[in-house]
Amino acid sequence: MTTKDKVVLAYSGGLDTSVCVKWLQTEMNLDVIAICGNVGQDEQDLEAIKKKALSLGAIDSEAVDLRDEYANHYLTKTIAANGLYENTYPLLSALSRPLLAQKMVDVAHKFGAKYIAHGCTGKGNDQVRFENSIKALDPSIDILAPVRSWNLLTREDEMAYAMANGVPVAATVESPYSIDDNLWGRAIECGVLEDLNNEPPSDVWTLTVDPEDAPDEAEYVELGFEAGTPVSLNGQNLSLLELIIELNKIAGKHGYGRLDMVENRLVGVKSRECYEVPAGSAIILAHKALETVTLDRETMHAKLDLEHLWSQCVYYGQWYSPLKNALDAFMADTQKFVTGTVRIKFYKGNCTVVGRQSPYSLYDFDLATYGEGDTFDRSYSEGFMYINGLQNTTWARIQGPSAHQN
Ligand code: ARG
Repeated sequence: MTTKDKVVLAYSGGLDTSVCVKWLQTEMNLDVIAICGNVGQDEQDLEAIKKKALSLGAIDSEAVDLRDEYANHYLTKTIAANGLYENTYPLLSALSRPLLAQKMVDVAHKFGAKYIAHGCTGKGNDQVRFENSIKALDPSIDILAPVRSWNLLTREDEMAYAMANGVPVAATVESPYSIDDNLWGRAIECGVLEDLNNEPPSDVWTLTVDPEDAPDEAEYVELGFEAGTPVSLNGQNLSLLELIIELNKIAGKHGYGRLDMVENRLVGVKSRECYEVPAGSAIILAHKALETVTLDRETMHAKLDLEHLWSQCVYYGQWYSPLKNALDAFMADTQKFVTGTVRIKFYKGNCTVVGRQSPYSLYDFDLATYGEGDTFDRSYSEGFMYINGLQNTTWARIQGPSAHQN
């Protein structure tokens, strides 16, 4: 009896990846090991998902709780870098894929699997993130992308294949949107959102209430940071996972963290996306505020440029890359003194920073004040103006607007 080659599949329990389980067995003649990673997505009955994979003929199935690892090794890095692609999107899908890929590579090694498979389409960014990550972690593993390569082009083709192959098709009406979610937030695309002129219907949002229905009372929250990482909420020390879960509830209740944007995908397509990132948006806002008082000007300015590069690098699927490693080293070094407390205020869809305190604050009240006790010595300013303006003076004299006036 010849043994079959094995494939480790990233399995979500949905129709696409369920059809993948069958397709990999019947079309590719492989033994399937289905992995369901919990990165804090909604809905998950992981045991049920595991059983479903086994009932479809997978030889093994594992449900792995990756939430702490996600928070402590992935979200900490995006917080340090204030990760926002195109200055707006908090990268939630781009952050979870490298972790899922790493887990699949581990499982592939454990089972001696030759292949790893994912259920991404050929049109999005997530295929890139999975595949680049897998290649960086173990280039000897071959990657299969059934949804990209099979010829089940329409939803009807896929349903017909599912029925013919004993893949249960959910009785419930499918969401009209394509959704990806995890601890950091939720991405919603497709359906009526494809028309850029449509306001997102209310059924798009599940983590945040409509700001119009949010409480009339503002709510204050104190976030404590230690070397750039959030460590406490309202004075209570929490793991990052616990803190994000708690803050998601508070921010969501006040309708904060909604985004509606058109972004540039790596594959050259512009796409309209809605996101809900309640805790994540508040954490980045507070973290930036703490940096304004703990980072010196030049480091902060350099960091703003590198944050853009870091976010682009992660969005493009380069989590495991020399550039990303080097940028992480820079970010980590800048975080040494980003310790302190930021007070934020939620009110009807908004979050504002209303207080910042740090033992390492570079804000010097005596230098800043226009009141009593001002220690800023203005007598040096005249010489500084002369030297700082010297280039302008020289340019103006020789090339500037007044140089050629007769
Ligand atoms: N556009 C976002 C990104 O590329 C979200 C992707 C969501 N993925 C999904 N399968 N719906 O990161």
